[in-house]
Amino acid sequence: MVGGYSPGLAGARMKLTRPEHAPLPTPRDILEHLDRHVIGQQDAKRAIALAAYAHMRRAEAVRRGYDGLWRKSNILLIGPTGSGKTLLAQHLAGVLRAPITVADATEYTEAGYYGKDVELMITDLYLRAGHSVEDTQRGVVFIDEVDKLARRSQGAQNGAGARDIGGEGVQQALLKLLEGREVQVPAGAGQPWSRQESVVIDTTGILFVCAGTFTDLYGDLETRRPIGFDSGRGTGQRERRRIETKDLVAYGMLTEFLGRLPVVVELRSLTAHELERILVEPEDAVVKEFRSRLALDGVDLVVRQSAVREIVRYALARQVGARGLRAILEEVCADVLFEAPELGSRKVVVDAAYVRRQLKRAQTTREVDARA
Ligand SMILES: Nc1ncnc2c1ncn2[C@@H]1O[C@H](COP(=O)(O)OP(=O)(O)OP(=O)(O)O)[C@@H](O)[C@H]1O
Ligand SMILES: [Mg+2]
Repeated sequence: MVGGYSPGLAGARMKLTRPEHAPLPTPRDILEHLDRHVIGQQDAKRAIALAAYAHMRRAEAVRRGYDGLWRKSNILLIGPTGSGKTLLAQHLAGVLRAPITVADATEYTEAGYYGKDVELMITDLYLRAGHSVEDTQRGVVFIDEVDKLARRSQGAQNGAGARDIGGEGVQQALLKLLEGREVQVPAGAGQPWSRQESVVIDTTGILFVCAGTFTDLYGDLETRRPIGFDSGRGTGQRERRRIETKDLVAYGMLTEFLGRLPVVVELRSLTAHELERILVEPEDAVVKEFRSRLALDGVDLVVRQSAVREIVRYALARQVGARGLRAILEEVCADVLFEAPELGSRKVVVDAAYVRRQLKRAQTTREVDARA
């Protein structure tokens, strides 16, 4: 499997191919779908919805024989860790009913070197499309961690990662895929017993979504404070200017690479309020999940708003972000989960005081364990 990810749950559950006559989801449909799963990041969601819509329109036009000039809207997602980049890609695939593969850029090497060849991304997409060439050619390839491909020659000042010239080679190799090119993939990919025939996949219609944190870049933008930069003094907020192509080039990305990613989308760090919403709002929110888990034992779990706030406070203090919310709730509910089958039909209310108690206990247990 490329990158060791699996497609989003939503993607997996939905039917892959869109019936021929079903209307295309509009940008608004896509946005509404993303809204159900991804909290905040409004600008990013709108831009992605628009790019995805254009992608599907184009794929449809191509199917009808259109061969004019219509550039693909490949996307570059930039944002701090845990802000929802991978989540967005997964749910995007869900709404497009398109096959998606998620690749980790750091696992690839340029052709001829030891490691994975970038064309394997297409092979994997072909596998996920159930060996359908047509579906593969309108699929989505999500390439995570592209910031780690930054060129590190010329004594780059920002010292991100130890990766050297190799990253640049992978950027070079990706250029060809991004702009559209025919790639041969083994027809029996994933079936070791099959004969090694190959099929040709045209990557022209494949939507590429690249993502990276570009961490050091953020630091730079906040501290350098160029002229005309709104430091947000009036609002008391720490703002920064938008990332521009020249920043990314200075970071070590190839101009040609960036040129093939015309849609640049920035995600912001999540606020406390957004983290609170993430706990309870999305269709697959962790609080909802725990409620339904406990409901199987007849327990009616009620998580008070005060508890939600307390959990988020803890997550922020530990700097674990959205990713850590599940683990925290797991600790908070450990006893309830353990005793649930014995509790019978009962209502269990979790408030801030309970959260504090449980987390303190979990922490003490860990400390005792560490000493033992
Ligand atoms: N905006 C959001 N709305 C809802 N849940 C979110 C959001 N951002 C993050 N999460 C939660 O946090 C988890 C991690 O987010 P995600 O994998 O998308 O981060 P990322 O931006 O790709 O980070 P990284 O750069 O580390 O890969 C998600 O699975 C989800 O549970
Ligand atoms: Mg990610």
